[in-house]
Amino acid sequence: MKISKLLTGLMICALPLAAVAQTPIVIKFSHVVATDTPKGKAAEFFAKRANELTKGKVKVEVYANSQLYKDKEEMEALQLGAVQMLAPSLAKFGPIGVKEFELFDLPYIFDNYEELHKVTYGPVGQQLFSKLEPKGIKGLAFWDNGFKSFSANTPIKTPADLRGKKMRIQSSKVLEEQMRALGALPQVMAFSEVYQALQTGVVDGTENPISNLYTQKMHEVQKHLTLTEHGYLGYAVIVNKKFWDGLPADVRGQLETAMKESTQYANKIAKEENDQALEGVKKSGKTQVYVPTKAERDAFKKALTPVHHKMEGRIGKDVIEAVYKETG
Ligand code: LMR
Repeated sequence: MKISKLLTGLMICALPLAAVAQTPIVIKFSHVVATDTPKGKAAEFFAKRANELTKGKVKVEVYANSQLYKDKEEMEALQLGAVQMLAPSLAKFGPIGVKEFELFDLPYIFDNYEELHKVTYGPVGQQLFSKLEPKGIKGLAFWDNGFKSFSANTPIKTPADLRGKKMRIQSSKVLEEQMRALGALPQVMAFSEVYQALQTGVVDGTENPISNLYTQKMHEVQKHLTLTEHGYLGYAVIVNKKFWDGLPADVRGQLETAMKESTQYANKIAKEENDQALEGVKKSGKTQVYVPTKAERDAFKKALTPVHHKMEGRIGKDVIEAVYKETG
């Protein structure tokens, strides 16, 4: 009798423990782009692998297309712990006081993905992640998107074609300076608001990798797209540091493996996705796609590269020089 009572008592005590052990750890992963983009697909890939590798101990819930939070709010939500994981564009760290990430926004700083990877896979990338820790954020990986091109409702062949145009930008001082170097009027705006702003004429044009332009249907409200590929747009996958450090070590290790695999996947598909999106834009017949000549490219380069020197004070001359050194 006594023993059975004890057993019953133990079972009652054990129940909540068992329930805790069985409850999956939920990671809310919020982002602002469509599912059918490099970032959207990589987030889904991570959710699947995290679930498989942890044998169901972790459930990653992906919230795409700004359905939970817009750009600025998602950063706050991560710091407060309302979501656990994000992959904001590298151009969106200025508002939380981490200015060095804006080096990725410098026009023409990378000629191709290979040069970029020397930074994102190398010591400079790791150094950048260390800047996030005092903000309660841990950087896990860099995911690629691609090279940005300008779009508007009027043809863009020379830098002068953007003079006086209201151009939507992400929240980066480097991008602001870039637009000013062209004589354009930069307008910071959340990604989720861009389509409507283009449609209603609140802004005249924008810049984005083609995968973003196409999946948000921006090409339907932009008559001209010029493949300037003047700058890079990619992501830092970040987590709430307290949450991450508090995970059981084995689970964290499995999630690190899932992240490694997802990064390989993301960086493999990024270019393909952008190439396919460009085909989609061309097929739609809604936007005229223009490939600039070498002379036209050079003119953009000449107008935009002085932005590097101008932004040394903000990003840090040492950081910019470290990138030049890595990329040769
Ligand atoms: C933008 O705001 O244009 C991009 O950062 C969106 C994204 O996450 O790719």
